[in-house]
Amino acid sequence: MCDDAAPLLPVRAIGLAAIAGALVFTAGAAPKAHVPLLGAAVNLSFLESGDARYADTLRSVYRSLTPEIEMKMDKVQPERGRFDFAPADRIVAFARANGMRVRGHTLIWGKQLPAWLEQGSWTAAELKQILVAHIQTEVAHFRGSVRQWDVVNEPIADDGSGRLEPNLWYRVIGPGYIALALRAAHRANPAAKLFINEFNTDRNGVKVEALLRLVKRLKAQRVPLNVIGFQAHVRLDWYPSTQELTKIMRRFTRLGLRVEVTELDVPLGSSSTPLDELLAAQARVYAQIGSACRQVTACDGITTWGFTDASTWLGTDQRPLPFAADYTPKPAFFALLKAAGVRSTVPQP
Ligand code: G3I
Repeated sequence: MCDDAAPLLPVRAIGLAAIAGALVFTAGAAPKAHVPLLGAAVNLSFLESGDARYADTLRSVYRSLTPEIEMKMDKVQPERGRFDFAPADRIVAFARANGMRVRGHTLIWGKQLPAWLEQGSWTAAELKQILVAHIQTEVAHFRGSVRQWDVVNEPIADDGSGRLEPNLWYRVIGPGYIALALRAAHRANPAAKLFINEFNTDRNGVKVEALLRLVKRLKAQRVPLNVIGFQAHVRLDWYPSTQELTKIMRRFTRLGLRVEVTELDVPLGSSSTPLDELLAAQARVYAQIGSACRQVTACDGITTWGFTDASTWLGTDQRPLPFAADYTPKPAFFALLKAAGVRSTVPQP
């Protein structure tokens, strides 16, 4: 694989007037340099809240969007065979109107399953048919607008066992559900980049080894798989150094895969340390992870799980994201841009 093939951040002047006066961002890279795409998960109710700061910041700063919940199975297929794409369609329309990439999240996961599926009793043959039909219908619906799919989310158990997560798919179908899902997604859109997206694989440990074993097995079976997503839900006291994450990512890129940071956030925790010190420490964590993606030329993007502390699954008081709840950029924002190689004319605070 040629690392130079990493797509460049679309270079364009970005006005961020709504936030802090006339701000202009430019990609600070020479033509062949590697600049990861900046992305954010989107909360549709905030996007449609009428608070222009949310949409303005998103479209000004970010080039990639991930719907935070609207493409999950419980939302998309609330009854067997009845699909509802309307909310996700509205996010895709916003992205298209602003020339942004959309990461589809997520096709097959052990969580956020519709009640009819969780409460049913299924044979392996039935569940395989449900899995394939779900993927086929969702990927086909978004063909043309979504070319990246988290096909399998969180397949590795988080209990230190190094086994596959014993979710419904695994329990009924067996480990083959992963290859089945990837093959179905590939058939539905052969042009799409297919991800396995995992958490707590951002630091060395049993889970990284388990994910590597899985990937090697899939590769040996010639299963279509393009990218490993590193969620990077890290903490001030648990995060990888640039060197650690770079090494982990390269273990996967050496297998011919690309990588992305897909759900980065860094909660401040509950210590009594003064806020400005916590925010500075948070910025350093963002910088470590941003630098890793910048250094690994097969790392195509860095997505944070939200972008404003006003909307985060961790709770606003945890302030885990690059923008404050009032939409002012935080030290983490500047640190991330700098580390990722995106130059900004915003005066540094
Ligand atoms: O919108 C309803 C609201 O009407 C209702 O009153 C409220 C009561 O619980 O629920 C609201 O929906 C919640 C939704 O988030 C919107 O906030 C759901 O209950 C809640 O389950 C849902 O949580 C999401 C979670 O995934 C499950 O889908 C989080 O927002 C989202 O950040 C989280 O994201 C996951 C990634 O998909 C995978 N990796 C980990 C990551 C964090 O957990």
